Amino acid sequence: MKIAIILGTRPEIIKMSPIIRQCEKQGIDYYILHTGQHYSYEMDKIFFEQLKLPQAKYNLDVGSGKHGEQTGKMLVAIEEILIKDRPDIVLVQGDTNTVLAGALAASKLQIKIGHVEAGLRSFDCTMPEETNRIIADHISDYLFAPTETSRKYLLNEGIPNEKIFVTGNTVVDAAYQNLEISKNGVDILKELGLKEKEYFAATAHRAENVDNTERLGRILSGFSQIYKEFGLPIIFPAHPRTVKMIKEFGFEIPEGTRLIEPLGYLEFLQIESGARMILTDSGGVQEESCILKVPCVTLRDNTERPETVDVGANIVAESGENIIECTKKMLESNLEWENPYGEGNAAELTLQNTVTGYGIEFRKIKN
Ligand code: UD1
Ligand code: UDP
Repeated sequence: MKIAIILGTRPEIIKMSPIIRQCEKQGIDYYILHTGQHYSYEMDKIFFEQLKLPQAKYNLDVGSGKHGEQTGKMLVAIEEILIKDRPDIVLVQGDTNTVLAGALAASKLQIKIGHVEAGLRSFDCTMPEETNRIIADHISDYLFAPTETSRKYLLNEGIPNEKIFVTGNTVVDAAYQNLEISKNGVDILKELGLKEKEYFAATAHRAENVDNTERLGRILSGFSQIYKEFGLPIIFPAHPRTVKMIKEFGFEIPEGTRLIEPLGYLEFLQIESGARMILTDSGGVQEESCILKVPCVTLRDNTERPETVDVGANIVAESGENIIECTKKMLESNLEWENPYGEGNAAELTLQNTVTGYGIEFRKIKN
């Protein structure tokens, strides 16, 4: 049994890291194929270094580009590698263009596909990620759904139950494995002059937010209102896409908002867990705030992580329109919600099901 782990962006490296660690631990024959969708040091290599991951066997250096161009380049190059170094199964994670290209290339070569984090739906087809995840789910052989809600979405689309395995989300494994490690490294709160629970943390990078002048403007003015209302600084480690668009649209950074470079995972975990509240449009950050018991305001019109809203950890703020009301509401939360994403053994369950095939009994996570 040989596995090809295909990844390309920051969240895929982080969420695949527990699976890579398990492959190493269990002596499974595998290799990493990196598309190079993310390539800047702080979006890519820093995570391999901090998480002590082996180098990718192949790096396609595809880089940035329009959707068709980027996905097309990946598809051609992944196909070449899968023919030359044929695995028994390809694992992809999430909903990026890397996932679409990886799953499509494997499907045409009749190589089995395992989709990690299957069954998420925003029901918003204007998001490129929604198209990517729907296609990946429908051509996959093993669908590793994080929760029963995602299993239900898959069943509703006619995907057979035998293909679906509820494993929890590897984001929990990664957070649990690295939070303690992070405390022994750089003290980023001290470095930035921050005190626990006396700041908000923010991220924003979704195309539908930051490529739209009105929406990006609304988010920045929301940050400004929050600072005026609550008097706490907003620490904003910004994705390169966001920095580019802030410059292009000519926005000023509002008073109280500290825009900084993207952080390493170990530092970002500290920033998240020390925050009074998190404002974000990121999928992974919505999950992590829920796991780390920090209230979250999601700066979008919808979320494919409804579990976080259902347990009371998150609220959707329609891309910042009602940011103050949502912030007030979340600041009152009692922080007593349950983590819906499993116990931190999703990587183990994923590999167990990948290696042994369909129909086996596996431990159920609490939902
Ligand atoms: C991609 C994913 C998104 C995911 C995000 C994680 C798609 C369609 N989008 O969005 O689902 O949430 O990754 O962060 O796959 N850039 C750099 N350095 C890099 C990478 C990007 O400077 O290492 C800049 C470039 O200007 C680039 C822009 O960011 O044009 C966008 O990068 P791209 O990979 O196209 O999309 P993301 O916004 O990163
Ligand atoms: N993250 C990080 N440094 C940062 C911001 C985010 O390490 O400055 C991590 C975060 O902990 C999470 C992941 O990046 O695990 C989320 O990635 P992103 O928001 O880019 O993508 P999404 O999850 O929305 O696809």
